[in-house]
Amino acid sequence: MKAVTYFRYGGPDVLELSNLPKPEAKPGELLVRVRATSVTSGDCRMRAFDVPGPFKIPARWMLGWPAPKTPVLGYEFAGEVEAVGAGVRKFKPGDRVYGGAPRSYAEYITVAETGAVAPIPRELTFTDAVSLPFGLTTAMYFLNGGKVAAGQSLLIIGASGCVGAYTIQLAKHMGLLVTAVTSGRNAELVGALGADGVIDYTSEDYRRSGPYDAVMDAVGVTSFSVVKPLIKRGGVFLNVVLSTADLLALLNPFRDGRRIVTGTFDTTQAMLLAINDLVEADAVTPVIDRSYTLDQIRDAHAYVDTKRKRGTVVVTV
Ligand SMILES: NC(=O)c1ccc[n+]([C@@H]2O[C@H](COP(=O)([O-])OP(=O)(O)OC[C@H]3O[C@@H](n4cnc5c(N)ncnc54)[C@H](OP(=O)(O)O)[C@@H]3O)[C@@H](O)[C@H]2O)c1
Repeated sequence: MKAVTYFRYGGPDVLELSNLPKPEAKPGELLVRVRATSVTSGDCRMRAFDVPGPFKIPARWMLGWPAPKTPVLGYEFAGEVEAVGAGVRKFKPGDRVYGGAPRSYAEYITVAETGAVAPIPRELTFTDAVSLPFGLTTAMYFLNGGKVAAGQSLLIIGASGCVGAYTIQLAKHMGLLVTAVTSGRNAELVGALGADGVIDYTSEDYRRSGPYDAVMDAVGVTSFSVVKPLIKRGGVFLNVVLSTADLLALLNPFRDGRRIVTGTFDTTQAMLLAINDLVEADAVTPVIDRSYTLDQIRDAHAYVDTKRKRGTVVVTV
């Protein structure tokens, strides 16, 4: 089968299209014919080993050093179940499924029946389905972790990226009042996704706005010390990208009653089923910036590396 491999860290040119043996479904697993995957900011960071200073040592252990431990990149997938291993009850060949599993830049992957896999809701296309989990699961993890509630105010810095675009939609569904920080070229997009207010960071200073119940830095362009005056006492900083400065803020117990939610999470089947409920309720719209094919993977990574993408970049397989 065709798969995208990488045997060293670096720019998009480390990615190669290779022929690998087709995997087989072991007991309790599904074999999925992948029809679409995505290029996330996370994939690009893994490819480049782009990890902030204090996290480099655990990341070397997790990702592999000096070369990647797992030579096939990618995590999100949408496709059809081709075969099931012994004991699988919930899925059958022919089912349309989506979710997250390592090595998704390939024609076939295996995923545990109990893992991050769910039926594709309604008549969503493979590319629409694959565009949802990265942004929505992150939005769920941070909004739920921050215990933000209906009627509260939320500022999202970096609102047009994948995490931002889906956080706007989930936050509006939860009844929050959302102010989106983006550049002018994306103002219309974030407004269409439901933002109540838009701040164009190229001409206005969001640090003069607020205060808010919650502030999310979705793209890692600020820090707790900068946004602290914008957060109400008892409010929360949703810190999607943990920097060295934020790590120090976390260790400092004197935060004047402001909380910080950070960290990372594993995508679960329950999260995907919650996404299906959002789709059924017409609460989310796929936000797809560009679509590439597997043999254009270097171009797709080069585009995501610009840090200018809007929503999700998908790859058809
Ligand atoms: N903690 C976790 O578990 C977790 C989960 C998911 C993602 N992440 C991390 O979250 C980060 C963001 O992911 P993503 O996929 O959403 O990124 P992305 O889609 O690549 O973000 C691109 C967007 O960032 C905006 N942007 C760039 N500079 C900006 C600035 N100075 N102010 C405001 N907006 C700016 C751009 O809009 P303009 O062109 O308008 O500037 C663009 O639309 C990544 O570092 C990723 O690794 C962490």
